Amino acid sequence: MTGSISGANPGAVTGLAAAPWADCPTAAYLHIPFCRRRCFYCDFAIAVMGDRARGETSATMQTYVDTLCREIRVTPMGPLPLETIFFGGGTPSLLAPAQVAQILATLADRVGIAPGAEISMEMDPGTFGRSQLQSLVDLGLNRVSLGVQAFQDELLATCGRTIDGLILSGRSPISRRCQSPVGASI
Ligand SMILES: C[S@@+](CC[C@H](N)C(=O)[O-])C[C@H]1O[C@@H](n2cnc3c(N)ncnc32)[C@H](O)[C@@H]1O
Ligand code: SF4
Repeated sequence: MTGSISGANPGAVTGLAAAPWADCPTAAYLHIPFCRRRCFYCDFAIAVMGDRARGETSATMQTYVDTLCREIRVTPMGPLPLETIFFGGGTPSLLAPAQVAQILATLADRVGIAPGAEISMEMDPGTFGRSQLQSLVDLGLNRVSLGVQAFQDELLATCGRTIDGLILSGRSPISRRCQSPVGASI
């Protein structure tokens, strides 16, 4: 499923200055803990899912997304629209676009997403292709943090990464197609 997120709550901005929730954060961090393997240097909170893991086929990932959406619905939040949304991990780019859409729609419905909100995702270059990237852009993704680490195959292997430098240096859909801001972890 793809489609734009238009559920921001434009009426919610009325009377912000006087509202008791005026100081509430307008940023949301969504932790998506799944990775195919654990890279040798990484000590983040993750769950290793295996080399074939994908959001489309993983019941565990769908259960996590459903639970995350339930938590969003019951977490007290001011009615401010979100100005920044960050999908971090783990490897959020393992999620299916439909799962990202589910999370964004829940946020839009629960608290609102401001027009022009910055929507970022940490993406592992070995976990997505062009059509997935396009689906995410269609959903509103406008900023990417790309886990490069290194461009040399031997260094990537030393790090325990699952992708080779040839892809990073030229064939990644991000390097050719994405006109949005891209940050890279080296
Ligand atoms: C948490 S990962 C999320 C993105 C994705 N899983 C990936 O690796 O491409 C984001 C970045 O954190 C960095 N990182 C991982 N382990 C780290 C550590 N122990 N200390 C500092 N940075 C770390 C890596 O550069 C990685 O690209
Ligand atoms: S893919 Fe990213 S989050 Fe997962 S183990 Fe490697 S560096 Fe850590």
